[in-house]
Amino acid sequence: MKTAVFKLSLLGLALCSGAVLAQQRVDFGKREFESNCASCHGMDGKGRGPIVELLRRSPPDLTQESKKNGGVFPMNRLYDVIEGGNVQAHGGRDMPIWGRDYRIKDAEYYMDTPYDSAGLVRARILALLEYINRIQVK
Ligand code: HEC
Repeated sequence: MKTAVFKLSLLGLALCSGAVLAQQRVDFGKREFESNCASCHGMDGKGRGPIVELLRRSPPDLTQESKKNGGVFPMNRLYDVIEGGNVQAHGGRDMPIWGRDYRIKDAEYYMDTPYDSAGLVRARILALLEYINRIQVK
């Protein structure tokens, strides 16, 4: 009897700590999306963010990317759009150039501490893409 109670309480403990761990898990891509992209693209990624009226062009529905591309998530193309380095600056772009933005923010944050600038930019953009891939409609 005692061992059964002991086993049950161990199980309870394991379940509780599992729940706590699950709550603490940080969804980096989602957090990044909600703080940097949702103002235009909307919290749900469908392109209806609160500042859309101020833009010349409406942000595309980011949940349709795979569907528009024959069921395949266009990872490399979207990476280039977000990074923005290959886009010619002919003034036609409403979407911020995140590669440059992240590089500036990281430089401000790390200052004299050595860090991998290109690696940090890549990690952030890949986390965003991993999140955007998760919100694709089937
Ligand atoms: C200031 C508004 C604004 C913000 C903030 C913004 N975007 Fe955009 N985004 C746009 C607009 C507008 C477009 C359509 C292309 C254009 O006009 O530049 C676009 C295009 C895109 C595209 C290309 C989609 C396609 O089908 O070609 C992706 C991917 C994207 N944004 C991701 C993001 C991510 C990720 C963030 C946050 C890191 C972000 N956007 C933040 C306005 C914004």
